[in-house]
Amino acid sequence: MRAIDQVSAMQAWSREVRGRDGLKVALVPTMGALHAGHLSLVTLARRHADRVVASVFVNPAQFDRADDLARYPRDLERDGALLAGAGADVLFAPDAAEIYPPGAQTFVTVEELAQPLCGAHRPGHFRGVATVVLKLFSIVQPDVAVFGEKDYQQLAVIRRMVRDLFLDVDVLAAPIVREADGLAMSSRNRHLAAAERAAARCLAAALAAGEAAVAAGERTAAAICAAATDELAREPLARVEYVALVDPDTLAAVTEVGERALLALAVWIGSTRLIDNRVLERRAP
Ligand code: PAF
Repeated sequence: MRAIDQVSAMQAWSREVRGRDGLKVALVPTMGALHAGHLSLVTLARRHADRVVASVFVNPAQFDRADDLARYPRDLERDGALLAGAGADVLFAPDAAEIYPPGAQTFVTVEELAQPLCGAHRPGHFRGVATVVLKLFSIVQPDVAVFGEKDYQQLAVIRRMVRDLFLDVDVLAAPIVREADGLAMSSRNRHLAAAERAAARCLAAALAAGEAAVAAGERTAAAICAAATDELAREPLARVEYVALVDPDTLAAVTEVGERALLALAVWIGSTRLIDNRVLERRAP
């Protein structure tokens, strides 16, 4: 696996591989501190392209809190070894000045999709995400890019940006990878102390409670969200940021489940913020 940290070298690599060799390139953007969820993105990317570039860049523009940025886990050596093992061809790991050189002042805003859910609690977050993803697309020129469904709203924002800006990139979604007890894998799980880690199971349990409510015939958002919220309330270490039932495409709040609806939640366990989601489907009667 080749390691590249300069924009110009990354662009030159892509030009050569795509242009001269006619190969298909996939990009897996990450912020490092990799886990099995990220590696599943690389595996999916491999199936859809001849070469896989994985980027590791802790993007300052998407952090709404300085303390979260400062303590975001970083371990480039370990990340490189994991990516090589998973079959990535290039590790692109630029520093912040390379991506945001002095004087940089262009940002991308996806308007409505960035407003509810996490957007309502993390000002500027999706502007930072859309901006860095567009920069990575410009640098790597991928044919395909892979994102995880755990960050459902991020995926929706990126898909919208790709459509709105006519970007020639196929966006693929990879399913959430979970620990044995149901906790969605996340780089932030490393912050959890033992008791918090045990408590964090409540997110998956809350989604399961929402799903069980639908299976039992509940249709209203109020009842489904209450089932999830009641489950979270049983965990003393959990502090709910939001529990919401939304349209899976527009992310607008719904009052009834319809054919499909997205149950999404953000929960603080101590000083760690975790998110999770599940698409609920109404089964034919
Ligand atoms: O999902 C992430 O890790 C980040 O938000 C992304 C897509 C790499 C952009 O910084």
